[in-house]
Amino acid sequence: MLVDGFGRVATDLRVSLTDRCNLRCTYCMPPEGLEWLPKPELLTDDEVIRLVAVGVERLGITEVRYTGGEPLLRRGLVDLVTRTTALRPRPHVSLTTNGIGLSRLAEPLREAGLDRVNVSLDTLDRDTFVRLAHRDRLPDVLAGLAAAERAGLRPVKVNTVLMRDVNDHEAVPLLRFCLEKGYELRFIEQMPLDAQHGWRRENMVTADEILDRLTAEFTLLPDDAAARGSAPAETFLVDGGPARVGVIGSVTRPFCGACDRVRLTADGQIRNCLFAREESDLRAALRSGASDRELAERWTAAVAGKRAGHGIDDVGFLQPARPMSAIGG
Ligand code: 5AD
Ligand code: SF4
Repeated sequence: MLVDGFGRVATDLRVSLTDRCNLRCTYCMPPEGLEWLPKPELLTDDEVIRLVAVGVERLGITEVRYTGGEPLLRRGLVDLVTRTTALRPRPHVSLTTNGIGLSRLAEPLREAGLDRVNVSLDTLDRDTFVRLAHRDRLPDVLAGLAAAERAGLRPVKVNTVLMRDVNDHEAVPLLRFCLEKGYELRFIEQMPLDAQHGWRRENMVTADEILDRLTAEFTLLPDDAAARGSAPAETFLVDGGPARVGVIGSVTRPFCGACDRVRLTADGQIRNCLFAREESDLRAALRSGASDRELAERWTAAVAGKRAGHGIDDVGFLQPARPMSAIGG
């Protein structure tokens, strides 16, 4: 098992398959993009599966989430999902995506065994989308969401990051839209993970503010049935249910004490936290001929040293050297 010094057990593995993306969300990347990882540094499909198999077969990983950058840009994705769902014990397999390309890939992914998707959607307004993501792709995202629902990748979850004076007036319309479509919406507080280091606490729309906006229009009842456990979202039944909405107060209501996640970057580094300062190089070990047992030992050691929390509020807080797109959401 992957246990840290505070007794937390990591069972949820987030794997970034590429640092590239076809959008440029301001909370993530500058408009001109970033210097992408060179191809030889990326794990091959076989290497990804080898490491995921070590996690599942030897280290108690039960949940595998493929992320990016934008994971749909990874050519071998469908095959990776097939091979992941063939592992035993079969892990739960999901995808965090911006939705572009999902209208073509939802069905093949479902056939490959994918269980669920999380799609990022921050606005329903085309101009705001362009302002926020620097690409005119809102129709593609909406088509991708619909395709995911049709393919049965349920519940389709939607992630929204609100930014002051950009899309913070859309909390209610976004929830109405998701209720109508049967998607489960979760608002995420903006975290200091953008490559440009543009995050300012005062621009962050807090969980309290989001809840204020929602409760002006809806009755929200804390959803005790879905006891929070290690799930970062606090969920609420909307207008008596069964529909729910989630609010993830990553900054103002941190859930580090219950964190069960560990991350593998596209270039084969284990990170025990989004905000970790150190990484553990499994790619080098793998490419120099390490056995599965040696890989598992390295991985176990990397998780053992996990810090208590992200420390965003600490005086000495340092944003991680890598942006979100290179770490995996
Ligand atoms: N703060 C909060 N959420 C973020 N995401 C990307 N960058 C940030 C950030 N700085 C979200 C995306 C996506 C998921 C992977 O994380 O919107 O839904
Ligand atoms: Fe792409 Fe996701 Fe970053 Fe937006 S947040 S630019 S969709 S990787």
